[in-house]
Amino acid sequence: MCPDRAPLIAVLGSVNMDLVTTTERRPAPGETVLGTGFRLVPGGKGANQAIAAARSSGHTVEFLGAVGDDLFAAELRRVLADSGVGTGLLRTVAGPSGVAAIVVDGSGENSIIVVGGANATLTTLTAAELDVIAKADILLCQLEIPVPTVAAAARHARANGTMVMLNPSPAQPLPDELWANVDIAVVNSGEAEQLGGTLDKVTHLVITQGAAGATYRGPGGESQVPSPRVEVVDTTGAGDTFTGALAAAWHRGPERALAWASTAGALATTKLGASSSIPARADIAAALAGEQ
Ligand code: RIB
Repeated sequence: MCPDRAPLIAVLGSVNMDLVTTTERRPAPGETVLGTGFRLVPGGKGANQAIAAARSSGHTVEFLGAVGDDLFAAELRRVLADSGVGTGLLRTVAGPSGVAAIVVDGSGENSIIVVGGANATLTTLTAAELDVIAKADILLCQLEIPVPTVAAAARHARANGTMVMLNPSPAQPLPDELWANVDIAVVNSGEAEQLGGTLDKVTHLVITQGAAGATYRGPGGESQVPSPRVEVVDTTGAGDTFTGALAAAWHRGPERALAWASTAGALATTKLGASSSIPARADIAAALAGEQ
């Protein structure tokens, strides 16, 4: 971390338009149920995490990704920029933007289907993107873009002294070479189970456990932080909010960063949608102060 400037966080990942349907009960296969509402909300794990990093800190956050040339693209760009995320390198490519069909039930739980669209075109990195990764303090990635691109970015980050935080979601088997370049892995308990022993090699491991909080395991030992009690409306984007806020606060040390991120993630569950529910720095600080 460069001591005489604010941290620079590069987020490489997806940006999607979320098609959010709310319903009391999710339909069984072959069944039709009546919904209670519908909204278009910008999302995507990459964009959500970039927005959370920027809103929770005011640090410099640069988003590396792609939108299509469709009707959703302008709104996806606008939400990132209005949240304080740098979009100077966000590509526009021919074809549709990424979309996610999301169903949220009465208990706030969701099911999501993502169609990659423009995100799937990120098969190589430009010189300008590589330059931002090399200059960043943290590179933050997920797995909604092609894995070889994530691996190339992590390799470049490691070669240039940039710390790599990976949220391996959606969980899938990854090349050893990618894991070797990851400094911090952030997973939920389901992903931790799926990835199993692979995670043993990572220096810093963070496991989120929803309402139960989050655990940390690293060179300094193990710790657990609780999650504040909140009224859950929709859990969509809560893990992304946790991860983005964690990346932005990492320089304060794992324990403080986890407490900050847990509060941010919990607040994100109190509103509908992904980017629409990501809290600002002042709200996280107030909620954290209220807990102590
Ligand atoms: O993690 C939540 C996100 O997953 C949604 O915003 C959706 O776009 C999918 O990427």
